[in-house]
Amino acid sequence: MYKIGEVISKKRTALGLTQAQLADALHISFQAVSKWENNAASPNIEMLPRLAAVLGTSVDALVGYNGVAADYDSRYLSEDYYWGLQPNRLCFEIMKLLPPVRPFRVLDIGCGEGKDAVFMAKCGYLVTAFDISETGLEKARRLAEHNRVDVNLIKADLVDFCPDRSYDIIFSSGMLHFLDAPLRKEICENLKAHTVTGGYNVLNVFVKKPFIVRAPDSTRDESRRFPWLSGELFGYYHDWLFHTCREEIFDCNSGGVPHKHCMDTLIAQKIGEGERL
Ligand SMILES: C[S@@+](CC[C@H](N)C(=O)[O-])C[C@H]1O[C@@H](n2cnc3c(N)ncnc32)[C@H](O)[C@@H]1O
Repeated sequence: MYKIGEVISKKRTALGLTQAQLADALHISFQAVSKWENNAASPNIEMLPRLAAVLGTSVDALVGYNGVAADYDSRYLSEDYYWGLQPNRLCFEIMKLLPPVRPFRVLDIGCGEGKDAVFMAKCGYLVTAFDISETGLEKARRLAEHNRVDVNLIKADLVDFCPDRSYDIIFSSGMLHFLDAPLRKEICENLKAHTVTGGYNVLNVFVKKPFIVRAPDSTRDESRRFPWLSGELFGYYHDWLFHTCREEIFDCNSGGVPHKHCMDTLIAQKIGEGERL
């Protein structure tokens, strides 16, 4: 369960501040800070913006509100599957490259309602999948049950997710544009480090192009989307073997207004140090 005290304590420690120093900066007693951190009391509403500023974070982060999660929770509320049930074509590309002749391990990041995770589990992969939307995960659980497959479904945020093991395939579709630019390199390095030698990362990202105008209807999550630079994803994987490296411009009709998007897709393989092809 979310506890504001843990967030305050974590952010304060990361900044190397003592409780007394944080209290001084806010002109309050250190006992008040101690009470917050022990969840014996909460900062009042006027204090939140000052506290967020001193801790270098946002009020949303302090109070545990994630706008992207809330947005997707509401999209996933209906009985229908928002993204449909047709697996992403990348799943078929994965099957060609690493057919499930044994239960290879797959990590699906930002799995939404689980259509791809469940499909891959049905094909014989051992799938772990995570998302920040509990509503999406609930539907993914139902889909797995309906298809009589096991998928390890976890609620987690990629920003602080630390894989507990390495995977043969790390897959993410339609999610990485929620990562703020300064986080991307480190997160890609983390994914690379948690991929077995010979394994694959299969990723796509929306990219900016000066000649593609922002969708006139601007989808609801547009303000929290951070399109990547064209080719940026490929650069982070410069030391891996590329199997697919493509940039596509495609039509979209979200909100009933025709517009275009540009997407970079990468399927890259980790080659062992010193290995020669
Ligand atoms: C466009 S949907 C794609 C869902 C799924 N991959 C699919 O193609 O059906 C993006 C998903 O990423 C999730 N998401 C956004 N930011 C995330 C984060 N930081 N960590 C984990 N999941 C996230 C959203 O909740 C949403 O379900």
